Amino acid sequence: MEGLVCVDDFEKEALRKLGNVTRAYYRSGADDELTLKDNGAAFSRILLRPFMLRDVSNRDLSTTILGKKVTVPIGISPTAMQRLAHPDGECGSAKAIETIGGIMVLSYFATCSCEEVAAAAPNARKWFNFYMHKDRTITQGVFKRAEKAGFEAVVLTVDAPVIGKRRDIERNPFDFPPHIKLPNACPDEEELSVSKAHDDIDHGATWEAVSWIKSVSRLPLVLKGIQTAEDAIHAVELGVDGIWISNHGGRQIDTAPATIDILPSIVKAVDNRAEVYLDSGVRRGTDVFKALALGAKMVFVGRPAIWGLTVDGTKGATKVMEILRDELDLTMALTGVADIKSITPKFVCSRDSLSKL
Ligand code: FNR
Ligand code: LAC
Repeated sequence: MEGLVCVDDFEKEALRKLGNVTRAYYRSGADDELTLKDNGAAFSRILLRPFMLRDVSNRDLSTTILGKKVTVPIGISPTAMQRLAHPDGECGSAKAIETIGGIMVLSYFATCSCEEVAAAAPNARKWFNFYMHKDRTITQGVFKRAEKAGFEAVVLTVDAPVIGKRRDIERNPFDFPPHIKLPNACPDEEELSVSKAHDDIDHGATWEAVSWIKSVSRLPLVLKGIQTAEDAIHAVELGVDGIWISNHGGRQIDTAPATIDILPSIVKAVDNRAEVYLDSGVRRGTDVFKALALGAKMVFVGRPAIWGLTVDGTKGATKVMEILRDELDLTMALTGVADIKSITPKFVCSRDSLSKL
């Protein structure tokens, strides 16, 4: 890992290491990958406004998320089948999060069970990602199991009623290795095949499902994949606790806007009635800072954790998360803020607005 000093270094090394099929699976975006590219480019278009001569000698990166402390507002997004990257799989990601004090979100399609992850990283904050099962008694059983394992919130993915068209994956068809089984999409530790887990999903879920979840689960509910102010308002009116702005890392509907570009309108619409989180394209501490400045409470990364795992398992994922944390810390020092609540919109601007300031 020596010489790998930023997330992009880890990405290059991971892409070199992975076989064609797994590389295509992890890297791909939908169609022409315009959203995938714009997720990153949009962060680069936003400029920082550094303020001087403020005491930044002691910096505090901690904040409160869903009523509890995080040491740093950076988490790992749920991504499927992390054991294809490294045998440590999701346990490695959870340990990386335990080290930095963020939040680990375990995918419904994870290759480590929620019990294994809890045992591997007992002190990490953990949320459970899920999709609606056609049989709702199974969804209820899954919630009970996740809660028992110490998962604090449930995260419903709403941007994937079907899977987007990823050309690179079609060109390198995924032949799931037979040892890959999914242990979390059921109320017990039965191991499902990837196709069974996908076939069981209710692709016809509507907002009614959100009301149903609120009525059966005591855990806070986060909707992941919201991309419009209208949907955010709908979610808030149904009592959702967290709005997670995401375009699935550009993997679902191409030419959807970059998440950082839609963040301000959604933050305004939500008006503090729920917490707002963001992922898709975050690769640097300055990206995290920009999202916080525009109103996100917490920022997540998907592929960066996978690149870290690919390069060196738990150690690699931990290094990636430490890099992001340290870059956020440095950005705070150099812009003149000593704590998270002081990161406000005045620290960012567009090139066009510079002459009008
Ligand atoms: C994902 N994503 C995802 N989302 C989800 O809600 N459940 C899942 O199981 C998965 N699986 C998955 C697999 C792979 C390989 C990728 C790359 C992504 C989307 C993920 O949670 C997140 O929204 C994006 O990865 C964020 O974008 P970046 O950080 O990868 O640019
Ligand atoms: C993906 C699914 C698993 O993006 O969410 O591959």
